Amino acid sequence: MTTDDLVRRVESLREQIRYHNYCYYVLDEPVISDAEYDALMRELRDLEAAHPELVTPDSPTQRTGAPPSEQFAKVQHAVPMLSLANAFDEAGVRAWYDRTLRLLGNNAHVAFVVEPKIDGLAVTLIYRDGVLVRGATRGDGEIGEDVTANLRTIPSIPLRLAPFSQMPGTAMPQHIIPPLLEVRGEVYMRIADFMRLNEQLAAAGEKIAANPRNAAAGSLRQKDPSVTARRPLRFFAYGIGQVEGVELLTQWETLQFLRTLGLPVNRDARRFERFEDALAYCREWMTRRDELEYEVDGVVIKIDSFAQQTELGVVGRDPRWAIAFKFPAREATSRLLDIVVNVGRTGVITPNAVIEPVNIGGVTVRNASLHNADYIAERDIRIGDYVIVKRAGDVIPYIVGPVVARRDGSERVWQMPATCPACGTPLERAEGEVAYRCPNFGICPAQITRRIEHFVSRSAMDIAGVGEKQVQLFVERGWVQDVADLYTLTPEHFNGIEGYGSKRIANLLNAIEESKNRPLHRLIVGLGIRYVGEVVAQMLADHFGSLDALAAASADEIDDLEGIGPAIAASVAEYFSRPESKALIQKLKRVGVRTVATGPVVAPKGDTLAGKTFVITGTLPSMSREEVSALIVAHGGKVSGSVSRKTDYLVIGNDPGGTKFTRAQELGIPMIDEAGLLALFGMAEGSASPAAENDDAAATTSRGTIAEPQQLGLSLD
Ligand code: IVH
Repeated sequence: MTTDDLVRRVESLREQIRYHNYCYYVLDEPVISDAEYDALMRELRDLEAAHPELVTPDSPTQRTGAPPSEQFAKVQHAVPMLSLANAFDEAGVRAWYDRTLRLLGNNAHVAFVVEPKIDGLAVTLIYRDGVLVRGATRGDGEIGEDVTANLRTIPSIPLRLAPFSQMPGTAMPQHIIPPLLEVRGEVYMRIADFMRLNEQLAAAGEKIAANPRNAAAGSLRQKDPSVTARRPLRFFAYGIGQVEGVELLTQWETLQFLRTLGLPVNRDARRFERFEDALAYCREWMTRRDELEYEVDGVVIKIDSFAQQTELGVVGRDPRWAIAFKFPAREATSRLLDIVVNVGRTGVITPNAVIEPVNIGGVTVRNASLHNADYIAERDIRIGDYVIVKRAGDVIPYIVGPVVARRDGSERVWQMPATCPACGTPLERAEGEVAYRCPNFGICPAQITRRIEHFVSRSAMDIAGVGEKQVQLFVERGWVQDVADLYTLTPEHFNGIEGYGSKRIANLLNAIEESKNRPLHRLIVGLGIRYVGEVVAQMLADHFGSLDALAAASADEIDDLEGIGPAIAASVAEYFSRPESKALIQKLKRVGVRTVATGPVVAPKGDTLAGKTFVITGTLPSMSREEVSALIVAHGGKVSGSVSRKTDYLVIGNDPGGTKFTRAQELGIPMIDEAGLLALFGMAEGSASPAAENDDAAATTSRGTIAEPQQLGLSLD
């Protein structure tokens, strides 16, 4: 490669990575698999390692830097970071609106923007000429802390704005990069990520966080950015501070503008012309908050017009132009009746609270999580205590702590039982571990049951008709000892069992049979390896391609995968090193379960190109190769690296490569340009695709036109 080529390749890789970050974090609609993304990152890393002079601070490889030398430096905010006045009911919101109208004059026309109030922590990001130069916490609103190094590790925060030439899902002109822009927003953690993090922290014997907000705050204030980098933090932009070079007139316009710059803006923000409509939308969210993947403590109503905002002004720290409509807290007090223990599929014993039934936000709660024995001891939670129970999102409610003042002396301190409640084996606790375990891995009926329940569950092998009840039956009768035994069930097993008619048996056995061909990552999830959920399983499946290859990999090899850390790698390697795991894999193969990967990596979005194989050569005018490949695959086609008789089309770009071109000529394979390809996606009719009949048109197509993948049925937005 010449230096020019090298520089171009490095730039192109960075642009592609930024684009895919945007698809993943902002649009929530990835167009390539994690493995393909990792390949891009790896190539960029390798090129930068070989040519350190090409490294720039805004390169996607440079997210995790060295720790700042001492404490976080203090930063003065040029524009104060305000707070919000609260309303706790509709009457409070109406009172705010009446006051607003009085101040603006009763005839003023007022529009509103309603946004979810994310329960995280406020930060400010300063971009100069589109490059992130500083980020800070809110602090007291005037002075915050410089946490730039930590904020840089958050993947949804762009290190550089508007990083690619076209941006699906946005309607504004895309060339405005303000010389100075301060972006205000919220750093938060999704509820599921928070729960997983707590599990990992608990397993490592570290302190767990009380809620997603504390977890986010704690993660952002880590001294070492590499620790922050491992925390699943995310960001939503909801406003601006200082700005130069663009004039924004309304909150709504600001949100759209931030989105065009590649910043994640909440999709549920809406603009309303009438107060009653805004209020109705708030009401809707009160009942729909469980649908969100993150915690919200309310909604924010903002006056849309900046001119009106200025007119209304600020009292103390609270702007008069906005109000937080807080949702009722989803916490309640109840009595802790008992603590029972559950045996998990890896033998971990978890204590669970049985409480006096209590209604929390419309749901009757009878059981709540107590995490582990240390949690109970640290908080001194006793049986008989009044306890605070909290419900967050869709997850299992948990006990926050006891109300000590309400004790009457009858409360009892709880102790972890000495033996497994299912099989009577003495429990063990490994040095430095929080969890107690039943070591009877192969035989404990509770563990077997949990493992099979997990295997048949939706996120794993998804076997319809087999639920807890059926699994219990199979295990109790001794038909099934491990997951492979499921595939040995026959109609005869069900002879004389009540409720199992021939139709039902046939359906059930069919569903089991069908599951033999599930994609590899589902089988990996189904094995129930610690720390291996859908995302990690997909990475492992993409990379290793078969269960045998994965089982043969060392912890180091697994650790080398982008996005997989040492704890996960060690857990996977440990799992496959066990003799019983090796035996299980052999058994799964024997009963006919597919243990190799196949199938497309991108979820199909159409089948216009089904059965067609494409080869790409040269640079296309408006799409990167990865984008083209993703489009083809998304429409059911295949992309191959070399031309053969099986090739249906050669897609040619500006400077097509020699061999592919000549080989295609030899074989008489049809050649199409980008416009021709777009035509195949169904863009050939009418004015939508003038390029289709005109060979030159593709070359003159500006990159802007690719904002049309939505029309291609890709629905990126
Ligand atoms: S606006 C008016 N918008 O709520 C300027 N804040 O209680 C204040 N928050 O410190 C910020 N989501 O941390 C605004 N969509 C949103 C928000 C939001 C969450 C937080 C933010 C702020 C706190 C005020």
